[in-house]
Amino acid sequence: MKNFLKIADGCDVMPLMYAVQRKPELWNQNKLRTSIPESPHFEVSDIWLRFNDLTRATETGDASYIMDEHESIDYPAFAQLPQARPLIFGLMSRVGGERLGRCLITKLPPGGRITPHVDGGSHAAYYERFHIVLHAKAGSRFRAGDEVVEMKTGEIYWFDNSQEHEVLNASDDDRVHLIVDVRCKSAPVDGDSRAPGVVTPDGLHWVTGEANFQRLDGYARSEKGSL
Ligand SMILES: [Fe+2]
Repeated sequence: MKNFLKIADGCDVMPLMYAVQRKPELWNQNKLRTSIPESPHFEVSDIWLRFNDLTRATETGDASYIMDEHESIDYPAFAQLPQARPLIFGLMSRVGGERLGRCLITKLPPGGRITPHVDGGSHAAYYERFHIVLHAKAGSRFRAGDEVVEMKTGEIYWFDNSQEHEVLNASDDDRVHLIVDVRCKSAPVDGDSRAPGVVTPDGLHWVTGEANFQRLDGYARSEKGSL
């Protein structure tokens, strides 16, 4: 596989998953990714552990600068979920990480989709993206480019988010992943060589051009530029 690489498996994610289960109020305190119907992540619920400082965006209504800033700050949920720390910093150690970016816990319900998109902007080009699987059952499908993986609970994957990707949760249970952005020592130099496209209203993703591979479950994505 070229778009996915399993970094680890058998990780003890239960302490964090249990803590999340016990604190449902943490979900969707920040809805930048999930509140716009055209967003690829409209069906997702989020817990932000680390993200860009949105103070300026809140004050001015202009979130465009977020695309160009690499700095993430801790959000209150990170302190309330200390069980995430050994997973995140263990991953940092394993991959030679030298800077920690965004960390999000994201939940997709049964039957839910994350529609096809490419992660764009300088943040996505600067950081490597990893998924720590906190909970998943058979049928939770993750496509990047022409490859599909069914990630299992306790596994950690790197994946190439410059490839068009999508998710279909065809299982009967929630898909819960901890997404971690890490700047690695071997990362390429700065600069975004990714596919050009259209910035969506959430300011975080670009829509790609045409592609020729089969989509998950025959899903027909929205027309280019319609977001
Ligand atoms: Fe993405």
